Amino acid sequence: MPDAQTTASATASTVLADLDAVRARTLDLVSHLSTEDLERQIDPILSPLVWDLGHIAAYEDLWLVHRHGGLPLRREDLAALYDAFETPRAVRGELELLDRAQAEAELVAVRERVREVVARRGVGDGTVFEMVLRHELQHTETMLQAMRHADLLPPTLPGPPQLGEGSFISVPAGEHLLGARAEGFAYDNERPAHRVEVPAFRIATRPVTNASWLTFTEGGGYERREWWSDEGWAWKQDDDSTCHPAIRDGHPDAPVCHVSWFEADAFARAHGARLPTEAEWERAATWHQQTVGASAGNVWEWTSTTFSGYPGFVAHPYREYSEVFFDRGYRVLRGGSWATHPRVATTTFRNWDLPQRRQIFAGVRLAHDEEAH
Ligand code: AVJ
Ligand code: FE
Repeated sequence: MPDAQTTASATASTVLADLDAVRARTLDLVSHLSTEDLERQIDPILSPLVWDLGHIAAYEDLWLVHRHGGLPLRREDLAALYDAFETPRAVRGELELLDRAQAEAELVAVRERVREVVARRGVGDGTVFEMVLRHELQHTETMLQAMRHADLLPPTLPGPPQLGEGSFISVPAGEHLLGARAEGFAYDNERPAHRVEVPAFRIATRPVTNASWLTFTEGGGYERREWWSDEGWAWKQDDDSTCHPAIRDGHPDAPVCHVSWFEADAFARAHGARLPTEAEWERAATWHQQTVGASAGNVWEWTSTTFSGYPGFVAHPYREYSEVFFDRGYRVLRGGSWATHPRVATTTFRNWDLPQRRQIFAGVRLAHDEEAH
């Protein structure tokens, strides 16, 4: 049997190997981009891609080197420059950011300090390392959104599978333990797990396809006032929105992607259906793992739930991860997309965005109340 010392060092080397593998993937995902494309701001709601690289390095320095390792920040100026709250996305194009070579050098320099910290004091229970690793994985998805927006996706990525239309399955009424149990890694917003009563409902086995979205569009989906919420109609009128061009270009059997919550909600009403609540989504993913839980590798799914803290929520390890977004109209998305790394896409993971946003890889799964028999 290995003694405690070898077990601890095996863990440390696994943690470092995992961090290095994630880094190799990150750099690979941007390797096809010109420096100009990496450094320009593609859209006001998306950061320049090189910002994400600098931010990933600064976050790792803050949490692993400074907080875990007890060393001073490597560069205080960068800690401030890459703080997501001090510099909102819209202004990131005007900042004096590190250029590509500097950002890549910073990533290497911080990682070297992490190795020293780990050699000196190990990885503790590993939680903060897992947080940093998943932080980078989440940013690579944001980076893929920006690349998608500029038509710059890596040529080798597979994209969403063509699943076709599904059917509906029933989930009986019952109690569901919503959220992540106390063991293992989870974000603060997934805890505490708590019991909720979920009435019987029906849920689609597949997300809605491009083909059905086009049927909706051509059937007056964007003109029929009665299908839209007041807020959704106002958004649509202001932006003069019709369906995202990706929907026409996509394969008819692929899940629809780049729809806002407002559009998802209107589509559901047009079909006499509704969006699932997040409790229904999670219960269905536990109940019918083959159909609902297996959605990673596909599209994020909008739920009807507004993002807020579970009863008994405690911010950990910092308020800005989740708490500052609670009760501000953000909607919860569940599942994961073809651009989400499986390590992030757990059945309790809660993603969130504003109801008008459609840069994310989000689609829709329909639900119904169970009709009384
Ligand atoms: C969970 C995807 C909404 O991108 O705002 C990245 C993840 N948090 N850096 C975001 C996150 C801090 C977060 N989302
Ligand atoms: Fe971040």
